[in-house]
Amino acid sequence: MLRRLLLLWLLLAGQAAAGAVLSAELRGPPAREVSPEFLSLTIDANLAADPRFITVLGSPKLRTLAGALSPGFLRFGGTRTDFLIFDPEKSGTSEERDFWEPQVNEGVCGLKVVPSVVEELLLSQWPIQEKLLLKEQAWKKYKNTTITKSTVDILYSFAKCSKLHLIFGLNALLRKGGLQWDSSNAQLLLDYCDSQHYNMSWELGNEPNSFRKKSGTYIDGFQLGQDFIHLYYLLRNYSSYRNAKLYGPDVGQPRKNTQKLLKSFLKSGGKVIDSVTWHHYYVNGRIATRKDFLSPEVLETFITAVKDVLQIVDATVPGKKVWLGETSSAYGGGAPRLSNTYVAGFMWLDKLGLSARLGIDVVMRQVFFGAGTYHLVDANFEPLPDYWLSLLYKKLVGTKVLRVSLMGADPKKLRVYLHCTNSHEPMYKEGDVTLFVLNLYNVTKHVELPPNLSNKHIDEYLLLPHGKQDILSRSIELNGHVLRMVDNKTLPVLTAKPLSPGSTLGLPAFSYGFYVMKNAKATACI
Ligand SMILES: *[C@@H]1O[C@H](CO)[C@@H](O)[C@H](O)[C@H]1NC(C)=O
Ligand SMILES: *[C@@H]1O[C@H](CO)[C@@H](O)[C@H](O)[C@H]1NC(C)=O
Ligand SMILES: *[C@@H]1O[C@H](CO)[C@@H](O)[C@H](O)[C@H]1NC(C)=O
Ligand SMILES: *[C@@H]1O[C@H](CO)[C@@H](O)[C@H](O)[C@H]1NC(C)=O
Ligand SMILES: *[C@@H]1O[C@H](CO)[C@@H](O)[C@H](O)[C@H]1NC(C)=O
Ligand SMILES: *[C@@H]1O[C@H](CO)[C@@H](O)[C@H](O)[C@H]1NC(C)=O
Repeated sequence: MLRRLLLLWLLLAGQAAAGAVLSAELRGPPAREVSPEFLSLTIDANLAADPRFITVLGSPKLRTLAGALSPGFLRFGGTRTDFLIFDPEKSGTSEERDFWEPQVNEGVCGLKVVPSVVEELLLSQWPIQEKLLLKEQAWKKYKNTTITKSTVDILYSFAKCSKLHLIFGLNALLRKGGLQWDSSNAQLLLDYCDSQHYNMSWELGNEPNSFRKKSGTYIDGFQLGQDFIHLYYLLRNYSSYRNAKLYGPDVGQPRKNTQKLLKSFLKSGGKVIDSVTWHHYYVNGRIATRKDFLSPEVLETFITAVKDVLQIVDATVPGKKVWLGETSSAYGGGAPRLSNTYVAGFMWLDKLGLSARLGIDVVMRQVFFGAGTYHLVDANFEPLPDYWLSLLYKKLVGTKVLRVSLMGADPKKLRVYLHCTNSHEPMYKEGDVTLFVLNLYNVTKHVELPPNLSNKHIDEYLLLPHGKQDILSRSIELNGHVLRMVDNKTLPVLTAKPLSPGSTLGLPAFSYGFYVMKNAKATACI
C-alpha cells in the first residue's frame, strides 16, 4: 500500500515537474473585445482575372463551407483590384450567364446554382489559370480586365447566400492625368449595385505602397487620403450607400516607406474611413521552409508589425479600429506543401490569438478559395486543415479576450490564449471560457490548470495531423477522428472529448487544440 502511494506520488510529482502551470484571470472585465466578425475571409480579385472562374462561387459545396464560417466579412480585393474595369454594357461570359440567368426569378439565394458540367469544366481548366495568375504575380505584370454585371451578381450572391458581408475593392489606379482618382468607372459600378440594392461595403485600392512597382504610378498618402474623401462623398449620393462603410488603405507589410504612407494617408483621409486596414504575411512563399512554420521567432515578428501599425493609428486617428484586411502565412500565393497543410495552423491560430490580444478587431484570411496554396478550400473543393481550424475557432472562441499566462515552459514555445467561450454556441453557457494552446516543443507538453479551473469539467478539441505525412498532411483529425464533409451540404459534428476535473492537458509535440472550461463562471463572460 505504501509502495503504491509512493509510486503514485512519484508519478504525480514527475508529471508536475514536466508540466507547465497556467494562470488565468477570471475576475474583472475582459482585457479586450473584438468584432463578432473577427475571423473573416477574402476572395482574391484575381479570381475575376478571367471572369469565367468567378462562376465556381455558385458551387453548393463552396457555399456550405463559407456559410459555416459566418458571421464574417468577405473581402473581394487584391492586386487585381486596381486592374479591374466595370463595363455595364458588356454581357457576361457564357459560363456566367449559364449560372446566373436561371436564377434571376428566384431571388438572390435561389436554389439554382452553377450546373455541375460547367463546374467540372472550369475546375479542369483551373490549374492552367492558376499557373498564369501566379506567374503574373511573380513578374508583377498586370493587364486590365473587364468585369460585368454578372461578375458582381455572382460575387454578391455568394456572399449573401453564405451570410457574409461583401466588401468590394474599387480600382484606385484610374487617374485623371496621373493625379486625382477618376471615379467615373466606380460610379458606373455604384449605379448598378445601388439599382440592385446590394448591401455592401467599400475599399479603394490595394497595397498603394507598391503602386509604382505594379503600374509605374506613384500616389502619395496625402493624395490617397483625398481620393478616399472623394469616394466618401460619392457614396453619400446613393440611397443604398448613404451609411455604407469605407475601409482602407490596405497597405502592405508595415516597412519604413509603407509606415510613412500610412501616416500621411491617415492624416489626410483618416476621418472618412471606418477601420484602418493593413496586410500581413510572415514569410515569402517561394523560399519558406517547414522550420519557418514551426519557429517561435517567426511567430513573434507579427507582434512588432502590429505594434508599429497601432502606434501610427494612435498618433493620427486615435480610437479608430484596426483590421488585418488581408493576411495569411506566406505571400506569393502561399508556400507549396506547407500553407495548405497541418503545419500552417500554427501561423493561423497564433495570428488569431495575438491579433485579439493586441487589439486587432478583424482578421481577414487570404483566401477562402482561389489560386495558390494558402486557401482554406482547395481546387477540388476540399476543406484543408486551416478550414477546420477556422470552423472550430468560430464555434468555440468568443469575442472577449481574457488574460492568461504560463509558468514552467517557454511561453514562446507553448503558446496559450484565453477567451470567453462563444456565447452563441448552444452547448456552452455564459461564464465558460475557451483556452487554446499551441505546442511548438518537439515533445509532449502537459498544462496544469490553476486551482480556479482544476475542478471544472473540460471539453477537449485536440487537432492532430492525419496520415503518414504527419504535420505536412492536408488531412486533420479532431480527437482522433478525421474531419471530412458528410456530403456537399453537410458538415460533420465537431465532437468534444470530455476530460474529468483535475486533468492536465496533454499536447503532443507540434500540435494545437482548444479546451472549453465548463462552468468556469468567469466574470467577464457573464
Ligand atoms: C481564483 O478564485 C479565487 C476564489 O474564487 C479568487 O479570489 C481569485 O481572484 C481567483 N483568481 C483568479 C486569477 O481569477
Ligand atoms: C488600364 O486602363 C486605364 C484606363 O483606361 C489606363 O489608364 C491604364 O493605363 C490601363 N492599365 C493597363 C495596365 O493597361
Ligand atoms: C447591411 O449590412 C450590414 C452589415 O451586415 C447590416 O448591419 C445592415 O443592417 C444591412 N442593411 C440593410 C439595409 O439591410
Ligand atoms: C453628389 O451629388 C451632388 C448633387 O447631384 C453633386 O453636386 C456632387 O458632385 C455629387 N458628389 C460626388 C462626389 O459625386
Ligand atoms: C528536440 O529539440 C531539441 C532542441 O530544442 C533537440 O536537442 C532534440 O534533439 C530534439 N528531439 C527530438 C526528438 O527531435
Ligand atoms: C459534390 O460536389 C462536387 C464538387 O462541387 C461535385 O463534383 C459532386 O458531383 C457533388 N456531389 C453531389 C452528390 O452532388
